[in-house]
Amino acid sequence: MDVKELNKIAKGMVAPGKGILAADESTSTIEKRLTSINVASTEENRRDYREMLFTADGSEKYISGVILYDETLRQKAKDGTQLVDILNKRGIIPGIKVDKGIQPLQGTDGEKITEGLDGLGKRMAEYHQLGARFAKWRAVLNIANGKPSRQAIVANAEALARYAGICQANNIVPIVEPEILMDGDHDLATSFAATERTLHAVFEQLALHNVVLEGMILKPGMVIQGESCKKAASIDEVADATVQVLKRCVPSAVPGIAFLSGGQSDELASAHLGAMNARHPNLPWALTFSYGRALQALPLKLWGGKAANVANAQKGYLHRAKLNGMAALGKYDA
Ligand code: 13P
Repeated sequence: MDVKELNKIAKGMVAPGKGILAADESTSTIEKRLTSINVASTEENRRDYREMLFTADGSEKYISGVILYDETLRQKAKDGTQLVDILNKRGIIPGIKVDKGIQPLQGTDGEKITEGLDGLGKRMAEYHQLGARFAKWRAVLNIANGKPSRQAIVANAEALARYAGICQANNIVPIVEPEILMDGDHDLATSFAATERTLHAVFEQLALHNVVLEGMILKPGMVIQGESCKKAASIDEVADATVQVLKRCVPSAVPGIAFLSGGQSDELASAHLGAMNARHPNLPWALTFSYGRALQALPLKLWGGKAANVANAQKGYLHRAKLNGMAALGKYDA
């Protein structure tokens, strides 16, 4: 393991004013996205859509890295260039989603465990060869009566830590993503408590498995009320609660925290990140974005599967990327 190299990559991923594009939708998830704009999910259409994002001129000013799916890491652009090379040429770091999705966690009331550890070391070595310099593993927890359970938290935290260790042994920076879903009518305080319990367990397991904190990125959700909660918290309340829980749980050796958007609107995802950085300067870690939907919703719609719309879709993507880049600097102004 090359700790210096891992730390350099991690710092690059959260460089000032930059964040990560999550474009690692699995085949079934990208199918849902493409179906929503009446485009068939063929290999070629998936390629064209992602090529549109990766070739957006100037995206490298706001985007430090892109998380890819296995298919995309191996895919060529229309002109025969590897998509990875298009990113590298712009100085954007390619990353790879390595988990194999969620399955029921037996012994719980419908909670989930993320799978994919078997054979991961071998896959990771190949991914490094193909150009990936960081990886992502997403654990999914939900809030309901008594959930997330201690069982689900610990099982998922352990899997995250084992994944992170395998990444680092292969000189790949792990993005450690414990997502707590926004589904439900829980309030901000409930989200805070679930996030605090989860992050404590995650960092305990990371320590147990000897993960080097300087060579990882944390990707949490924000502390936010459930999407059907009647009492909406203000932007500042979400920002303050999120920063408070992170201060309690995340050691300062971690170079950066890159949030998921988790179903927040584009505007709110930017506004919350902007408020955190504006209201809490001088935090020990960089706070930035690793958004999927909040970066892609607009360009996906503008593209609509038509080559003639590529330039306009790229404009939409750059617009969101720029606003999130400003938010990472605490200078977001809708
Ligand atoms: P969203 O920003 O759409 O939540 O996606 C981020 C991600 O990578 C989820 O794993």
